[in-house]
Formats: sequence, structure tokens, C-alpha cells
Amino acid sequence: MPQSAMSPLPKRPYRPPAPWPVCTPQSSLQIIAALRENPITSWGIWHFEREIFSASTILGHLTFASAPAAIKHVLSDNVANYPKDPLQLKVLKPGLNDGLVTSQGDLWKRTRRTVAPLFTPRAINDYTAAMRRRAEDMAIRLDALPEGARVNVFDEMTRVTFEILAETIFTDAIETGPEAYGEALTRYFGSQGRMSALDMLRLPDWIPRPRRAQASPTIDFFADEVRRIVDKRNRLKASGGKLPRDILTLLLEAADSETGETLSQEEVGANIITFIGAGHETNTNALSWTLFLLAKHPHMREAVEAEIEPIDQWPENEWLNRLPLTRAVIEESLRLYPPAPIMSRTALEADKIGEHHVPAGSLVIIAPYVVHRHRKLWAEPDLFRPERFLPGAREAINRYAFMPFGAGPRLCIGQHFAMHEAVIILATMLRRLRFSMAKGESVTPLHQVTLRPMPKLEMIKSSRSPP
Ligand code: HEM
Repeated sequence: MPQSAMSPLPKRPYRPPAPWPVCTPQSSLQIIAALRENPITSWGIWHFEREIFSASTILGHLTFASAPAAIKHVLSDNVANYPKDPLQLKVLKPGLNDGLVTSQGDLWKRTRRTVAPLFTPRAINDYTAAMRRRAEDMAIRLDALPEGARVNVFDEMTRVTFEILAETIFTDAIETGPEAYGEALTRYFGSQGRMSALDMLRLPDWIPRPRRAQASPTIDFFADEVRRIVDKRNRLKASGGKLPRDILTLLLEAADSETGETLSQEEVGANIITFIGAGHETNTNALSWTLFLLAKHPHMREAVEAEIEPIDQWPENEWLNRLPLTRAVIEESLRLYPPAPIMSRTALEADKIGEHHVPAGSLVIIAPYVVHRHRKLWAEPDLFRPERFLPGAREAINRYAFMPFGAGPRLCIGQHFAMHEAVIILATMLRRLRFSMAKGESVTPLHQVTLRPMPKLEMIKSSRSPP
């Protein structure tokens, strides 16, 4: 039959960029190389198919837990047996010290109680006007650019999420701009944030790790920043100025209601850096990936544009609940590209997870990146299908099958902050602007602590008719 008489071949659905899982087990050298360069390239097809299994590897005894019941067991039901593991802490602690992400035990409990008032629904309500204003300023600025201008979307998202964080939980106490922090984080992720082969082989700490030296200017930058931020607040206090009820006041004045203990200067500093880092880098990635996915799925972008039409008539703090499709698009983007793609714990004592034996000391890997694309948990796991998060469908998703914010007592404290912020920024931008990829350009996910679009996310901007 001539080609022209045939019905057109069904168009293959677009698969957003992600490394194909490897099909055969790799050598130790290949695994070390993959873990150093981009750990998500090391996942094998079996990780996306098996629910729980163990393996003896160069990293020691590993348990991969991807079944929701197993994840619940580790992160919630038997959480006391599974503290954060030394390998993860080696990557994060030099920068974050004993901040909320990396501390354990009583210090973690005390710090979490101290900062909790900043993340209540009422507190977040108070932040939404600032979120809207900052997002609107950015949208107006980008709208003024010539049609077809190239915009570094990742940098823009860094800037707006940083400004929001600085204005809300830090009440403008940070004077250094987002660019300097952005560069510092990139440097840190590219040095200390990459797993060292020597650490993987568990060689002693006295053997120098060249990449650690590369991280030291960033660590010095963080220390200087903490000094500047705390000095500014102390000057305000000394001058009798009214102290805002923000993260600095809470940290500096924290006296534990049960023990009366305060946080040390080092602990205060560690939390300042922790909240600056965790509070904007994650959502920068989430928003960047969302804009990329919408550019690749114009029908979905048009549906979102239709949904956000009436936003000006609603208070910002209602948007998250009034925009189910916009929210679903963000959640689907968090599923495909979870900004924190891996979580890990160590088993203190031997344990059983279902029928599976976990020996003491096993490193337990729970990887949202894998769980979110698991063949047994999701239909068309690699495709962008926001409908799965719409009301009516979402209820069927197991709580432990979708966990971009983690789960259990160590659940992300900024989860609601992040979701309000993401919806407000996205809706505000899409009201005025449209973004597309330049012909032939794409990005790939790079896993270095977070999951960033690489090489950079430059998009073509066009204006929609003004609202
Ligand atoms: C899309 C945005 C975000 C994502 C995907 C995300 C993801 C996560 C995940 C997975 C964890 C748990 C890690 C583990 O259990 O090992 C976590 C913890 C944490 N997140 Fe987030 N996060 C986001 C936004 C934020 C924001 C906006 C803040 C602060 C303003 C924040 C602050 C923290 C802190 C302090 C912790 C440690 C909590 C604890 O251990 O008690 N995050 N985040």
C-alpha cells in the first residue's frame, strides 16, 4: 500500500526528559561514576519494578524501599529506628551544620517546635499578599521585555522565591541579593553536594577529598552572611526598634517551653542558612520544571490559562483551593521532577519490613524520583498527566506513593508555604506571559542534592493580552 493511502501513524506521546533506566547491572566503577556525576542515571529498570529489596554494594548493605507500606514503616511507624544516615549528612552538614534538616534527637525536636509558629495556616495566610506582589512585580518586568526575548527562567524563579522568603519569614533582614546565594548554592552542590568516591568506599576522613576544598569559599560566604544578618537584627534590638515576629526573633529568643534551653549561636546560624537554602532552591526547581512542562504541552497550558482567568476576584490565600488544575499541574511536575529526589536513613537495629529482613546498619533508600515513576504505582509513569491529581482521581493516590515533601515527623515544614507560593507565582505569571522553548532546545535533569534543569532553562517569552 502506498504510504499516502495509510492512515497516519499514531503520534507517540511526548516523554519529558529523564534518563532511561539502565537494563543490566553495572560495575562498581560505573556506579561510582554515575553517583558522582548524576545519581539519577544509575537507577536500573528493576528499581522501578520491585517493591522492596536489598543489595550489597560498594556503599555497603542497601535496602531500597519503594512500596508505600514499606515507606510508611520507615518514615512513620518505626521512625525511631531510622535516623538520617551518615552519607547524606556528609554532603549536607558542612553547609547546614545542625540546622533543622540535618539535626537529630532533642535538638531537632526543640528547633522544630521553635520555628513551627511560622508555618501555621494563619502565618502562611499572612505571607500570601507578599507572594502575589513579588510575583506581579516579576511578571510586569518580564512583560516589558520585547516579544521573543530569551528569559533565563531558572534565574527568575530563584530571584522571586528568594525575595518572597526574605520578605516573609526573614522580614527583610537579608541584604545580600539572590544572585550571590544562587552562585553559592551552585558551587556547593557542584563540590560538596557531589558524592565523593572516597566516601562511597568508606575510606577514612583524614584522606583529603579535593572537592571539599572547593566548597570552602561557599561555607565562608554562609558564615559571613549569618554574621551580617544577626548583627543587623542585634542593631535593631539595641536601638529599641520593634522586633518582627519572624524566624530570627524566634531563633534568637527561643527558650524551649519544656526545658528552658535556648539555641546556641551556631545553631541559630545553621538554621538561618538552612531556611534560606531549603526555602527557595526547592521551589525554584518545581516552578522551572512546571513552566518547561507547560511549554511542551500547550493544550494543558491553555487549560490553565482558562482556569486562572478570574484570579483577580479572589484573595490570594484562596487560590490554592480554587485552582485545582493549576495545582494538579504543579503536583504532576513535583511527581516527575521531585526537587528532593532521594531520602535516606540508617537502620539502627535489625528490623522486619513486612517479610523483608533489614539488618542493623543497612542504608535505607527511599527515592521519590523512583517511587513517583514506579511501574506498579502509576499508569504511564514517565508521562505528564496532571489529570491524575484532579479531585476525583487524586483521592486514589496512596499517601506514600507521592511524597515530594517527605512524610512522617520529618515531613517538610515548608510544604504549605511552598504550595501556596507555587500556585500564586505560576498563576500570576501565566496571566500575563507565555513561555516556550526555542526550537531544538531542551534540558535534562541533573541530580546534585536537588533536581535542576540543565544546562539552564532559557525560554522564549511572549505577552498575552493584558489582563
Ligand atoms: C517544592 C518545594 C519543596 C520541596 C519539594 C521540599 C522537600 C522536602 C523534603 C522531601 C523534606 C524531607 C527530607 C527528609 O525527610 O529526608 C524536606 C524537609 C524540610 N524542608 Fe522542604 N521542601 C520544599 C520547600 C520548602 C520550603 C519553602 C521550606 C522553608 C521555608 C522548606 C524547609 C524544609 C526544612 C527546614 C526541612 C527539614 C524538616 C525537618 O526535618 O523537620 N522546604 N523538604
